[in-house]
Amino acid sequence: MSSDSTPLHSSAVINEAVQSLRDGGLVAFPTETVYGLGADAKNPEAIKKIFTAKGRPSNHPLIVHLAAPDKFDQAQIDWVALLAPWVRDLSEEALKLINAFWPGPLTLVFKKDKSVLNELTGGQDTVAIRAPSHPIAQELLRKFKSGVVAPSANRFGKVSPTSAADVRHEFEGMLDLMVLDGGDCEVGIESTIIDLSSGDKAVLLRPGAITPSEIFAKTGVKVYLLGEAKANEAMDDFPRVSGSLKAHYAPTTPLRLYASGRVLDALSEFPDIKSRVAVAVWDSESSLSEDGHPSAHFEEVEVPSDSAAFANRLYRTLRDLDQQGWDLILFPEPPAGEEWDGVRDRLQRACFGSGPSSNSHDSN
Ligand code: TXA
Ligand code: MG
Repeated sequence: MSSDSTPLHSSAVINEAVQSLRDGGLVAFPTETVYGLGADAKNPEAIKKIFTAKGRPSNHPLIVHLAAPDKFDQAQIDWVALLAPWVRDLSEEALKLINAFWPGPLTLVFKKDKSVLNELTGGQDTVAIRAPSHPIAQELLRKFKSGVVAPSANRFGKVSPTSAADVRHEFEGMLDLMVLDGGDCEVGIESTIIDLSSGDKAVLLRPGAITPSEIFAKTGVKVYLLGEAKANEAMDDFPRVSGSLKAHYAPTTPLRLYASGRVLDALSEFPDIKSRVAVAVWDSESSLSEDGHPSAHFEEVEVPSDSAAFANRLYRTLRDLDQQGWDLILFPEPPAGEEWDGVRDRLQRACFGSGPSSNSHDSN
């Protein structure tokens, strides 16, 4: 299989990708959130290849990606029939979320149908499913006519890819991978994950572009935070979420957050060895003028002060800075507010896992 760049929206290339999936191969493809590393969700050998390629522990479950049929009227889609092979018990609440947000950056966790492979659920009795909206993902899934498991197409714990070039860079020299090129991802961080498997409460497992207030506004469904849900009842068997590891999405260069106006405080952890520091600053603010520090040379990089634009640029900026050989990267702490929860979550984990030995944090 060629690892060359493939042209946007070429049906022939997508057909080739479908064949590759049918043959048990891996195909990287664009979604509106980040690029995914896809395999046939019904093929245990293909699923194993994903875990090997990513270096991901086999008990970390994958998301099944399904096609939304190409209907003029989205409300006409029969999700009950489409989900029947994967999901046991589809609640009214679930259908409300699906009708409001699919296709789109929302993953839902259900009790699984017994036919769903343990290899993809990490042995749990639940399955995570989403219908991505990116046109190439949609075309691939429609032509494949079944589910495709796809984690983000990065090595375990590392920054997720938001372009085809990022994916190639991630697996360079390790894997001869077919990469469908759909340009830069629009959302830029992974989908919001809501657990519906308790049949009782909808619980937020991973924040993303779609927020609990937006869900409530569009569907009337209240989404609980994991802490709230746990406080109310014993949820010891709560599902494992690899994104919930403290270290994740991490660059190799040390990364830290600074509180507004307190760039120098963030340096205190790095007394003398740091010299070249990249500082992300809000595009809405004037320059930091940090020329007063004796041993550090600062260079500023602007980041958007709008949360969606920030998410769209986050992984791109982290990857670019990581390749530029800085000694330290500083990002401003995101402001309070639910619309920032997704990027705050990713930035905090990225800080924790960052640094040259970032793999050693993976067991956390
Ligand atoms: O936006 C996304 O969701 C991207 C694109 C490619 O679709 N995919 C993605 O996959 O982020 P991955 O594997 O990097 O993250 C999937 C997350 C993990 O944190 C995993 O633990 C969680 O989904 N997950 C999968 N199945 C689950 C389940 N049954 N219960 C709870 N969490 C689950
Ligand atoms: Mg991931």
